[in-house]
Amino acid sequence: MQKTFTCIMCPKGCRVKLTVENDEVIKVEGNECPLGARYAIQEFKNPLRVVTTTVRIKGAALKRLPVKTAKPISKSLIKECLRTLSDVEVNAPIKCGEVIVKDVCETGIDVVATREMLSLNEKDEEMKDKMQLFDFLLGRVKEIIDVPCNSYEKFKAICQLFIDNVGHYNWVGFYILDESKKELVLGPYVGEPTEHVRISIGKGICGQAVEKMDTFIVQDVSKEANYLSCNPEVRSEIVVPIFKNKKIVGELDIDSNFLSPFTKEDKEFLENVCEMCSECF
Ligand code: SME
Repeated sequence: MQKTFTCIMCPKGCRVKLTVENDEVIKVEGNECPLGARYAIQEFKNPLRVVTTTVRIKGAALKRLPVKTAKPISKSLIKECLRTLSDVEVNAPIKCGEVIVKDVCETGIDVVATREMLSLNEKDEEMKDKMQLFDFLLGRVKEIIDVPCNSYEKFKAICQLFIDNVGHYNWVGFYILDESKKELVLGPYVGEPTEHVRISIGKGICGQAVEKMDTFIVQDVSKEANYLSCNPEVRSEIVVPIFKNKKIVGELDIDSNFLSPFTKEDKEFLENVCEMCSECF
């Protein structure tokens, strides 16, 4: 009997042909290195897989914790392993790599957490850290605005400050309102270049914020039909108008690569920033 396997030990993907007699491998062909032979024989005799799934977690912001087997286990044990894990519930906090089930299904292999999950109290701590950071940044923004240089340089410095210090701000830029054309025009920014250098009022999240004359937060851009995408990695966006004499003169636009990262602290902080920026117009 002959059996063929595609080796996955390296990108070459050799097609390894085994000749088998009475359940014994008697010939290996097609592999360019010994790893191919080892892989194909293992696949024939006892295929191994890393099992990835989730288990219930209590006391965390999320309901399930992602886990995996620390090493591959026999494919024949996957069902049993999943059944065992479906009964498991852990308590937050959990560290990344922490053992969740020791010696799962007597394989000698542990199931470990693949991400950290803070307890809700720690989330509160995180929130305090966020507010401290925003307090500090507000002070820095004030310093930048007080420097005697042009508005373009000030706005650029603010963008850079946020990109450098706030993990969930992944594209930061200013749009300036061109009242005569009813368009927003891209100003200073830090992040991936964008094709949206001019945005009509009402278009996209930026254009809608002008219409609403208010901060517009979209925690999941995939759920917003009127959205102009710049970069597929972006998951959420906040746009804060800048007012001068009660009229919109521009906007601060922030994209995040995280889902639902913006809290009322972000909104308050960015509205304060925009109030400060107003004097640059
Ligand atoms: N996403 C915006 C367009 C501008 S970029 O994010 C830089 C929007 O929907 O208006």
